[in-house]
Parts: sequence; structure tokens; C-alpha cells
Amino acid sequence: MPDTRLLSADAPGLKRAAALLRAGRLVAMPTETVYGLAGDATNDRAVAGIFAAKGRPRFNPLIVHLADPGQVAAFAHLSPVAQRLAAAFWPGPLTLVLPLRPQAGLSPLVTAELPSVAIRLPAHPVARALLAAFDGPVAAPSANPSGRISPVTAAHVLAGLDGRIDAVIDGGPCAVGLESTIVDATRDTPRLLRAGGLSVEEIEATLGAPLAERAEGAITAPGQLASHYAPRGRVRLDVAHPEPGEVWVGYGPCPGAALSLSPGGDLTEAAARLFHALHEADAMAGESGRIAFAPVPETGLGRAINDRLRRAAAPR
Ligand code: TXA
Ligand code: MG
Repeated sequence: MPDTRLLSADAPGLKRAAALLRAGRLVAMPTETVYGLAGDATNDRAVAGIFAAKGRPRFNPLIVHLADPGQVAAFAHLSPVAQRLAAAFWPGPLTLVLPLRPQAGLSPLVTAELPSVAIRLPAHPVARALLAAFDGPVAAPSANPSGRISPVTAAHVLAGLDGRIDAVIDGGPCAVGLESTIVDATRDTPRLLRAGGLSVEEIEATLGAPLAERAEGAITAPGQLASHYAPRGRVRLDVAHPEPGEVWVGYGPCPGAALSLSPGGDLTEAAARLFHALHEADAMAGESGRIAFAPVPETGLGRAINDRLRRAAAPR
């Protein structure tokens, strides 16, 4: 494939991107969470191309992105509780795993032949405009090589996938900065599959009841492998006193830290900066370098931040 084309987030750029999607090509698009690698979810070749570009294992299903709540019923069944979550949080950083409708017309590769499908309506205006122009279901995993750090700028996308995808739309940095929260809404009590950019506390406040937790150690979202978001160097967590030579990433007051997720200790800011910091610390530390993260509280978005940090630090 020739070089990846950088498209601007304006009418000509979006028109070009929608035409590429219709032709079965792959376009990275900004969303409010992270950049997604978009392809036509009904086109087997486009979807196979997504797996190939990322080096992603075929058993790991993709999220289907739609522009408008009215489109969801063609692909999935929404129970009353799923409808409440959809009404409260779509468009936004929530993905619902729902029973797949027979005859939905999706490529079987999208769902890895599971009886369920993951659906999200992103809030980012550029993603919404592209989805509306394409007017169909778009499969979009995060636009990074499988197992690496998710991209939150167009430059991050190019650093990982240049020459492997047709285009990237530059929509600037992603505001939320963490992938969507994934909730399994196929049964009566919704279950958390992946902590993400929407806090569990907000979801539970809407439900008026706790989410069921994923079973400890079980891989319920097939992509939730222990090692992920991996920088090249070694990562240590909960470090209040870094060792000499470590790139220390602070949270709250951390005198002498090389980088900070949030000097004032704000979890929303820390979420938005997390993948920037991982990319930067990776560049500073290099192949054999070492990165140390200060402790981050395990509440609100801190849950998702710590989840990503644990995967970044996992043995591989
Ligand atoms: O914020 C996001 O969710 C971003 C943006 C681009 O929308 N997308 C994203 O996609 O993070 P990806 O492919 O990196 O993560 C999707 C996760 C994977 O862990 C996958 O296993 C899970 O969703 N998933 C997809 N379909 C599923 C299903 N039917 N049942 C359970 N998990 C599913
Ligand atoms: Mg991903």
C-alpha cells in the first residue's frame, strides 16, 4: 500500500473518507475516546483488512459504530435496561454488548462469530459526520498495532500504521483519551467487561443498581489480554520514589517527575493525558529504558487508568 494519506477534518476530507469506506478501504477517524480504524462492517474484505493492518487475532471481535440510535435495532436487540443505558449515555464513551440480530448483514469477522455484537455511538463531531456520510455500520478498533498503546492523535496513528491503512482524518487530540467503557447488556444484570471513559459510578447511578463485575481472571471481552498498551521498556506501578534512570510519570505533587498525568490530581485530566504520557515516556525511555508511574486512586476514571497501567506493566 502507498503512504497513508492525512485528511483534514473538513467537508472535502470527510467526503473523501466516506468514499474510501464505501470502496472497502480503511480510514482512521478521531473519536472522543481514541482514534478508531474504520472499515465497512458489512464488507468481509474491509474487515479482514482491519485485522491484517493491526496484526489482531481473529478471535477478538470489533465494535460496530453507528451515527444514530434509530439504526441500532437493525443489528441488535435492546432490552429495557439496555435502552436506559443507551438513552442516558449515547452518543458517548459507552459500548454495549447486545444480542446480535439474525440477518444483521454484518461480516461474521466483526463479531468473531459470537451471538452478540458490541455497539457504540461516538460523540465526536468528526466521527458522527463520517458515520452519517457513510450511512452504515462501521467496524472500528483502536487504530494501533495490536498490543501497543492506543492512539490519541493522528500522529500516533501514523507512528503505528503508516503505509498499512489508506488514510487518517486529523481531528486533533481525543478529549476523553481512554477507550469506551464496555457493558454486557445481553442479560438481566448488566456486567462490566472493560472499565473506560465513562465511570462505573455514573452507570450505576443511572441504573440505580450495581453492575455485575467480570469474574476475576476470566477474559470476558476476548481482547482483554493481560499484556496490552505495551511501551518497549519495562513499566513499574505505584512508585512514590523512582530509581535513578527511570522516567517517572507523576500524578498529583511529584517533585522531579519527567512527566505528569495531572499535577493537580484530577482524574479526568489524567485520563486525557494517559496515552500521551505512555507514548512520550516510551520515546524518552527507549528500547531498554524503564518507566515508573506514581499511584493513581482507584475511583471514577482512576479504575480505567489503573487497568491500562496494569496491562502496560504486565509481563510479556
Ligand atoms: O473507545 C473505543 O471503544 C474505541 C473507539 C475507536 O471506539 N474502540 C476500541 O476498540 O477500543 P478495540 O477493538 O480496541 O476494543 C474493543 C473491545 C475488545 O476488547 C473486544 O474483545 C470487545 O471490545 N468486544 C467486541 N465485541 C464483543 C462482544 N461481542 N462480546 C464481548 N466483547 C466484545
Ligand atoms: Mg484496542
